[in-house]
Amino acid sequence: MVELIVKKRQGGELTREEIAWLVRGVTQGSIPDYQISALLMAIYFQGMSREETVNLTMEMARSGDMADLSSIPGVKVDKHSTGGVGDKTTLVVGPLAAACGVKTAKMSGRGLGHTGGTVDKLESVPGLKMDVPRDRFLQIVREHGVALVGQSGSLCPADKKLYALRDVTGTVESLPLIAASIMSKKLASGADAILLDVKVGSGAFMKTLEEARDLARLMVDTGNGAGRRTAALLTDMDMPLGRNIGNALEVMEAVEVLQGRGEARLAALCRELAAGMVQLAGASREEALAQVDRALASGEALEILCRMVEAQGGDRSYLEHPEKFALSPAQMEVAAPQSGCITRLDAQLCGLCAMELGAGRETKESVIDYGAGITLYKNKGDRVQAGEPIARLYAQTEAQCARAAKRLLAALQIKNEEPQSGPLVLERIGI
Ligand code: URA
Repeated sequence: MVELIVKKRQGGELTREEIAWLVRGVTQGSIPDYQISALLMAIYFQGMSREETVNLTMEMARSGDMADLSSIPGVKVDKHSTGGVGDKTTLVVGPLAAACGVKTAKMSGRGLGHTGGTVDKLESVPGLKMDVPRDRFLQIVREHGVALVGQSGSLCPADKKLYALRDVTGTVESLPLIAASIMSKKLASGADAILLDVKVGSGAFMKTLEEARDLARLMVDTGNGAGRRTAALLTDMDMPLGRNIGNALEVMEAVEVLQGRGEARLAALCRELAAGMVQLAGASREEALAQVDRALASGEALEILCRMVEAQGGDRSYLEHPEKFALSPAQMEVAAPQSGCITRLDAQLCGLCAMELGAGRETKESVIDYGAGITLYKNKGDRVQAGEPIARLYAQTEAQCARAAKRLLAALQIKNEEPQSGPLVLERIGI
């Protein structure tokens, strides 16, 4: 291990055998944490070649179970977002793609920090189980076209270990390490094709377009190099996505999109992502968009989400009547401090505000309040009058609301300027 650390520290390239030995040792627990951490720091500073990144990704993917989706007929397409605030697109695009004949067997994570996770969002539906046994998971995808479950403990154990060490050694923000971490889990999940939604902006891991583009290209090359058709959209995460942030609130909003009455930017992104998945399964862009529009207009995609929820033990009446969701009892409206145009609504600060309200986890052990969160009446680019409500906060106590209101106001900038809203899809790679 010392030889590997020194080699990387001096800018050398690790061979495939060295990487395989390393990942085996990490998985078996035979390499001490301090040596793994030193190597991670050397990688952070020296980077990795494409070949090293592909080899690391493949070895990490093989460190645990590799899902076999061959019992599901048709093309299986996975979608992955690098994490955002108010990003409930998975709940919408899986059913939309399924309504277009594309299968999605998706394993999702929980939220940590200021970004939410699909597992937590779906668990706000009473009865719904995210730890579905493998055979039942495959059966649900065969019957309904989509299943969204939690990541099994045996998926990529090497990533679990490496991510935990990166988290506490200041080595998370390394492009090859992020690419290998994300893509190893995608490859192990077994899909034929992968669509990546790489977020750019204040609420994302990647703050600049250049960084996001580099990460996206690396992941696309890695996926394609591993024989899975992979493409990416670079999308804006400078402002929260949609109106709602928080678990039950986001499920409610996902239903609105599937009913054809979602907030315009969110609905547009869902349409793009679902069409991207249909394209990866073989359709042209025009065909894909037309199919997605039909699936939305006919209500078929919403019906598929309801059936999936029911198959996973959840009460579908909550999706048919979203007003049944119990939102947290302490509620407070936040008013605009001045008139003008909202020129900034920092996504990361909004995410932290939602966490303060109880919607997210500060540590892995934190308990989530599913009914907590924020409804934004206004977002970046909107005009407001002084005193006009811009958001409603939901929490267990008035004190939480008061603290979160301060954070929300700190995330907000109102100026006497014309609104400028940039494009939502910034770039497309491989699609
Ligand atoms: N998401 C992951 O799964 N891994 C990373 O390293 C970063 C984001």
